[in-house]
Amino acid sequence: MEQTFIMIKPDGLQRGLIGEIISRYEKKGFILKGLKLISAERSLAEKHYAEHSERPFFNQLVEFISSGPIVAMVWEGKNAIATARKLIGSSNPDDSAPGTIRGDFAIDIDRAREFTHYEHSLSRNVIHGSDTVESAQREIALWFPEGTTRWQSSLHSWIYG
Ligand code: TYD
Ligand code: MG
Repeated sequence: MEQTFIMIKPDGLQRGLIGEIISRYEKKGFILKGLKLISAERSLAEKHYAEHSERPFFNQLVEFISSGPIVAMVWEGKNAIATARKLIGSSNPDDSAPGTIRGDFAIDIDRAREFTHYEHSLSRNVIHGSDTVESAQREIALWFPEGTTRWQSSLHSWIYG
């Protein structure tokens, strides 16, 4: 079983999408292992997106992530990291198919504005999901230093072959 870190970004909260997003992972069969509503300090947002620290959109991105509350979650399941990202869609909502979270609920991040100074958020694509086993482990440890639940779902035998 794999665990992945999923974050509903401030725009997802403002738009009332918490229940909708949780529902999609729940219905898929993933098991919720950690959940909290928090306002991230800028330093935590910077650590989370450290891999992008040299990118021109980094400052806007961390400003955005630390601009309001977010929902931090850990979901567990077979191939959870890649599958959770399939449910999310592409980074740019323009490229995300209908049926994906970004395809259904987000319109725009504007790559062409990468090199302008901080004016607009480029980052309003509702949700984050870890992209590799290493980043999932790093992000879970970063956002849940207190650890996550050991609760086991009894649905296992109804979900897995
Ligand atoms: P990235 O890790 O490439 O995308 P994903 O969220 O799909 O893993 O980028 C992290 C976030 O940075 C992305 O969700 C939105 C923001 N971003 C921009 O604001 N501008 C950009 O040009 C890119 C590539 C990302
Ligand atoms: Mg990423």
